[in-house]
Amino acid sequence: MISYLNGKFLKKNDIYISPDDRGFLMSDGIYEVIRSYQGHLFQSQQHIHRLNAGADALQFKQTNFEVLIEIAEELIKINNLSHKDSTVYMQITRGSVPRSHRFPSLETPLTIYVDTKEFFPKMEEIKNGVSAILVPDQRWCRCNIKSISLLANTMAHQQAIESGAQEAIFLRNGFLTEGSHTNVFLVKNNIVITPPKSNYILSGITREVLLDCCHDLHIPVEERPVVEKELFEADELMIVGTTVEVTPVIKLNHQTINKGTSGLITTKLYEHFKTTKLYHDQQ
Ligand code: PDD
Repeated sequence: MISYLNGKFLKKNDIYISPDDRGFLMSDGIYEVIRSYQGHLFQSQQHIHRLNAGADALQFKQTNFEVLIEIAEELIKINNLSHKDSTVYMQITRGSVPRSHRFPSLETPLTIYVDTKEFFPKMEEIKNGVSAILVPDQRWCRCNIKSISLLANTMAHQQAIESGAQEAIFLRNGFLTEGSHTNVFLVKNNIVITPPKSNYILSGITREVLLDCCHDLHIPVEERPVVEKELFEADELMIVGTTVEVTPVIKLNHQTINKGTSGLITTKLYEHFKTTKLYHDQQ
């Protein structure tokens, strides 16, 4: 497979990153994961916009990465993924310099890496649902930045896997934030409810597209704080994101939600997402 590093398309096996890279030493970087459906990038402008905002928040020397869309498209072609589903991974770090807490000088080039791989959606889970567990949100307070520092997310996710669940859902001071790699929606009395955008959640691209789906389908939405109890009392619960699309949560901490099946609104949203968004909102 061919990947991209700092201006060059290279065999992935031939790519070496310096041990002084600030991504390696300090998690000093940001990333994006973009889906490609049959070679068409989904919501690429929105992903790049979020990447640019992250670069700006971290005071990177470059804050416009629009060019990475062309690079991603090129990689999809070179790697024969034009007729397959795949994911594009983009990562930018503050470059390679001997370790120091202070930022390196502005002459230091950023490390820019783009990779693609074939993606196999978990259709079984999308159709029949997954289990989730609740865990305390021990992450930092700038979760709106898509930072490569994912230790708290991976530890929570691993805890879910080890308890037989597929996702960990974070609670901060009793309030729902998001999943380890997803946003969370619930349905109560035919209203779709999700926490508002803030520094405690990632502003998910899928989240935005689904809010738009609710609008199209005239489903009322409340973007508001959600307390733990509401999750257990929800008529439907779902995780949403680039990799899971819209996946029902049918068990939470071993308590069954919606009789253990995907709900009507979850199914409607997923179908609307698939039929009207994927092949019409492409960049
Ligand atoms: N994660 N919240 C978190 C913490 C995430 O890591 C993600 C995505 C989301 C959903 O955002 P989006 O709809 O833009 O994918 C929410 C990616 C897929 C990952 O880390 O692999």
